[in-house]
Amino acid sequence: MTDHVRIVEVGARDGLQNEKTLLPADVKIALIDRLSATGLKSIEATSFVSPKWIPQLADAAEVFRGIRKVPGVSYPVLVPNEQGYLRAREVGAKEVAIFTAASEAFNRKNTNASIDESIDRFASVVEHAQADEVKVRGYVSTVLGCPYQGEVPVADVVRVAARLYRLGCYEISLGDTIGVGTPAKARAMLRAVAQEVPMSALAVHFHDTYGQALANILSCLEEGVRVVDSAVSGTGGCPYAKGATGNVASEDVVYMLHGMGVDTGVDLDLLIATGAWLAAQLHKETASRVTRARTAA
Ligand code: HMG
Ligand code: MG
Repeated sequence: MTDHVRIVEVGARDGLQNEKTLLPADVKIALIDRLSATGLKSIEATSFVSPKWIPQLADAAEVFRGIRKVPGVSYPVLVPNEQGYLRAREVGAKEVAIFTAASEAFNRKNTNASIDESIDRFASVVEHAQADEVKVRGYVSTVLGCPYQGEVPVADVVRVAARLYRLGCYEISLGDTIGVGTPAKARAMLRAVAQEVPMSALAVHFHDTYGQALANILSCLEEGVRVVDSAVSGTGGCPYAKGATGNVASEDVVYMLHGMGVDTGVDLDLLIATGAWLAAQLHKETASRVTRARTAA
């Protein structure tokens, strides 16, 4: 395996959306600017979802406006509906990500909508995006298991992924939201989806709850996928998927790929330094949050 893999760095969005400690906007901006300097080409910046649902990313507009947009780097943002798209457009986003799930129960908890309703909402997002020449990425969550429903039939994953692709997403990211997948299941799921969506339009997105993420990624690379989502320093999770831990750490993915002779274009030392810097920022903010709570008590 000697070709190229694109890493989609999701730490500033998937990572920070689930941290109890809220980082100030200037720290988030500094994080994304540091990530931009590592050679990453896709850096998910934030989410234009309801701030009542995800208060951690309520500063989306300020963060997006504040980051240095490095030429050749894409900064996708999550949008759940037309309102989110319009907020993202206002600050000049050039790529958005829409998201739904393969399990009804999870989608309802995460977006207060059925799968069909969420896809209906995306029609106007995609229509705007096409008119504005904004790229649209799609996520399918719970592809290897659901915190509410348990097992998720592969046929449901295939159906939802194919719908998002037909709707106009240039790439579909397959999310193991709660990190319950294992390599053979991950491979079988990817193989089934690739019957309906070209492999070149697929990405994998593993959370690392049971330490399976790198093994799952390897099996999917062997199956042919060449886009991998990961989060610097392994932050992350979904507040509507109880028990889900962080995304697979970008540092670990890049280390594995480089060790296999696969090019990522990422400077591993800079990435590791960015992960350590982020951990220090989270530690500092957590300490001052605890001090504030003690002073108030
Ligand atoms: P809702 O409450 O049903 O929305 O939420 P609504 O349309 O009825 O509106 C209610 C209120 O929300 C209104 O305000 C709207 O203006 C406001 P009010 O009149 O009460 O003051 N609102 C918004 N405000 C700002 N931006 C918006 C927006 N939309 C409505 N875009 C909604 C529905 C989808 C908005 C909500 O459920 C939501 O925001 N959910 C997002 C949850 C989320 O972000 N989850 C994590 C991301 S997904 C994930 O992590 C998985 C992934 O990583 C892949 C994987 O791991 O599997 C991608
Ligand atoms: Mg995720």
